[in-house]
Amino acid sequence: MEKYLGENTRKLGFGLMRLPKENDVIDVEQVKVMVDRFLEAGFTYFDTAWAYGGSEEAMKEALIKRYPRDQYTVATKLAAWIGCKTKEDAMAQFDTSLERSGAGYFDYYLLHNLGEHRTKFFDDFDMWNFAKELKASGKVRHIGFSFHSTPEELEEILIAHPEAEFVQLQINYADWEDPGIQSRACYEMARKYDKPVVIMEPLKGGLLATPPEAVAKIFKEANPDALLPSWGIRFAASLPGVITVLSGMSSVQQMEQNLSYMKDFKPLSEEEQATVAEARRVMASLPIIPCTSCNYCAKVCPMNIGISGTFTARNVLAIYNNAYVAGRRHSWLVDQHNKARATECIHCYACVEVCPQHIQIPERLEECVEALKL
Ligand SMILES: NC(=O)c1ccc[n+]([C@@H]2O[C@H](COP(=O)([O-])OP(=O)(O)OC[C@H]3O[C@@H](n4cnc5c(N)ncnc54)[C@H](OP(=O)(O)O)[C@@H]3O)[C@@H](O)[C@H]2O)c1
Ligand code: SF4
Ligand code: SF4
Repeated sequence: MEKYLGENTRKLGFGLMRLPKENDVIDVEQVKVMVDRFLEAGFTYFDTAWAYGGSEEAMKEALIKRYPRDQYTVATKLAAWIGCKTKEDAMAQFDTSLERSGAGYFDYYLLHNLGEHRTKFFDDFDMWNFAKELKASGKVRHIGFSFHSTPEELEEILIAHPEAEFVQLQINYADWEDPGIQSRACYEMARKYDKPVVIMEPLKGGLLATPPEAVAKIFKEANPDALLPSWGIRFAASLPGVITVLSGMSSVQQMEQNLSYMKDFKPLSEEEQATVAEARRVMASLPIIPCTSCNYCAKVCPMNIGISGTFTARNVLAIYNNAYVAGRRHSWLVDQHNKARATECIHCYACVEVCPQHIQIPERLEECVEALKL
């Protein structure tokens, strides 16, 4: 895997978890344009997952059917902790991914979102040996895992499974020193075991693309010409040992913006690193619910609560102190997407078990009910 490091300065990956949608259906025509721009600029890494509804199929239409298979690399993932009762259920996810995507083989195959109670599913269903068999048969080229938990748990997995060739981690400047996420400590642990790193959530799911005013001001003063998302993505890409930085771009415009500064990528200078450190300090002082809108909780909530939409609206209120805008955001993300309101939560805690950000969701929802007057 080390050969993937350093030789290639094109360190932007296309994360396919947040593709553009029209009436809740992925806008494949727009994705085609995004794919074209991405490949034209010389980038090659695509990241999807069995669990990202419609993403593997969209990738087939926009990428696999339209470009020779050896001109790009594809990563997908197996989530044994979602709906699997047997080893066969878990293994079936691979065949489904292959069929949906038409990719023929996967360059990178990840066991998806290890950490906490989720790790056990992969051991119970013998998924590590399954991944090794897939690699031996040529159906996948490299095996790794994505991870959300503590550096200590990461070390346990790295010791138990030296066959993992790379690790995918949540890394962004806001979470770098965050005691709940421990981006830096997890990154250092992966590097201690010589594992190359794929970075996910470099903009904390979008929160750092439009950061709170106090943070935006720091960046604008440092460089009025730099796009705000560029700080997050360049911070991540500046780390040594990184295969690629996945950006979950959701429009052609976002794609063009991110390509504009990643095409001729320059690592952050010392001065820029100091600016980012100052932004991190200010960010940490703000009362934001650290939800990245990954929507893993939505897959397990029996009440179909609009959890991420509620938290987004709450954050809008906290950052901009504008109840009207926050209410409209809630109406759009929750009511108009046919999600139940936070008042319907039955405190079953199913969501807390899968939340990579360790948010005490029911309690935070109660706060939101009060703040947003739901
Ligand atoms: N456990 C796992 O394996 C796991 C977990 C999470 C993610 N991932 C993978 O990692 C990828 C990256 O994570 P992520 O999607 O959370 O990435 P991210 O870069 O932190 O967030 C993506 C969001 O940032 C905003 N954004 C990006 N570029 C922008 C720009 N130029 N201007 C304005 N806004 C911009 C968009 O928000 P709006 O859409 O709101 O505009 C976009 O949806 C995912 O797509 C997925 O493939 C894997
Ligand atoms: S605690 Fe509430 S939000 Fe979480 S899964 Fe249960 S009903 Fe849904
Ligand atoms: S509450 Fe947690 S699991 Fe749900 S969308 Fe936010 S970060 Fe993801």
